[in-house]
Amino acid sequence: MPAPATSLRLVPAPRSVRVGDGAPFVVSAGTTVTVGVSPAEVSLGVLAAEVLSRATGATVEVRYRDVAEPTQPGDVALRLAEGLGAEEYRVEVDPDRVEVSAGSPEGLVRGLATLQQLLRREDGAFVAPPVVVEDAPAHGWRGLSVDVARHFFGPDELRVVVDLMAAYKLNVLHLHLSDDQGWRLDLPSRPALAARSGGTAVDGDPGGFFTTEEYEALVAYAAARGVRVVPEIDVPGHVNAALHAYGELTPEGEPTEAYTGIDVGFSKLAADLPATEPFLRDVFGDVAAVTPGEYVHIGGDEVLTMGHEEYARLVAMASDAVRSAGKQVVGWQEIATTPLEPGTVVQYWDTRMDPAPFVAAARAGARLLMSPGSKAYLDMKYDADTPLGLEWAGHIELRDAYDWEPTALVPGLPEGSVIGVEATVWTETLRSLDDLMTMLLPRLAAVAEVAWTRPEQRDWEDFRARVAAHGPRWDAQGLAWYPSPQVDWHVG
Ligand code: ACM
Repeated sequence: MPAPATSLRLVPAPRSVRVGDGAPFVVSAGTTVTVGVSPAEVSLGVLAAEVLSRATGATVEVRYRDVAEPTQPGDVALRLAEGLGAEEYRVEVDPDRVEVSAGSPEGLVRGLATLQQLLRREDGAFVAPPVVVEDAPAHGWRGLSVDVARHFFGPDELRVVVDLMAAYKLNVLHLHLSDDQGWRLDLPSRPALAARSGGTAVDGDPGGFFTTEEYEALVAYAAARGVRVVPEIDVPGHVNAALHAYGELTPEGEPTEAYTGIDVGFSKLAADLPATEPFLRDVFGDVAAVTPGEYVHIGGDEVLTMGHEEYARLVAMASDAVRSAGKQVVGWQEIATTPLEPGTVVQYWDTRMDPAPFVAAARAGARLLMSPGSKAYLDMKYDADTPLGLEWAGHIELRDAYDWEPTALVPGLPEGSVIGVEATVWTETLRSLDDLMTMLLPRLAAVAEVAWTRPEQRDWEDFRARVAAHGPRWDAQGLAWYPSPQVDWHVG
């Protein structure tokens, strides 16, 4: 069944939409955002006024109100309501007022994203059509993983990414903060990581790293938009930047050379070296300390030159370090070959790998995050002519990124084991925000719908028609994007 209300061009498609037949709500100088006085609501009120002002050019103000105060004509009221699930929300647009209600601040942010998409220009004014939207996500983890290690993307660029994620109701920004080519987060216990390996990147391009303050500010910016940051320190492979900074982590006791190529699988920690476990404790302890969220990612992928017993020991050491710092462990698919604590989040990515250990881990209580390379790896080229990107998982056109169901991708997964979907963008070939956006858009909108909208409400033809209206919005925001030939963009 096609998603309802195609004409509203909402992406991701909401659960229920009832279009009214009255006049639209007009955003004007008299429009006021009203919110309660809790700190989360105050910051949301400011965000809502900013979003409406930016979208329309009108100066929209904020008024703080008592819980019981009724909505006035001209108000855009944000309300925390009892009885709605996490991220569930309702948007009601009447000719003279708008009400956005949700059970949590995150739900209000999702409702705000819907309201933003409802706005359109009509006869020189910005209006929202009369409508009731009731909505909730299919999956609780809807992520984008950004590799800031191969090429560095700093706070300003990542704020643009966070805004885009919030617009499509994504809620996890996973940052791949370390790899062979560079280390991107300064850590107080191990200052040489950023000092010696922060400046390098693929091809000798400029690197960079986050100071603690910059990182915490980004985490707070994302949190205000309902996006949690999950930091990844990739071990026990992909560690040349660490070995270049601390020679005690190598069997020779000497630092390695900096690495600026794009091969994978050659670098590794050593389980028997006395420096290894303290390193893991320090690093994951510091990373946990700047992570208000529950999760820290330990990597675990592509360790191609290590025996399995040593790999399992190192995964256990890293996992212990994360848990002793009070966080839950996330790791790439390969960690499913090792003993895991129930509840560990395992991220599926390599469709070429035997899925049996992944299925077995799920049956033993692991929670699963789905990032299949052939669908959700948004650094893959769209087709053979795409100048940017890689091809090892094939070409991913817009429809490929859209037409898949995370719970049915790997046969034999227990009911309820899939907790979410994450797109990834690896940056071996991506040097600028325009490069990054060209690979993300329009495909990120497709993966966002796979993550948010229930499968019975997803329909490619309907998505194609809706997403066509988003190209002009990306243009208006100055975002680069790929005009996939699978969409009639000119009718958007
Ligand atoms: C990965 O793409 N190596 C997780």
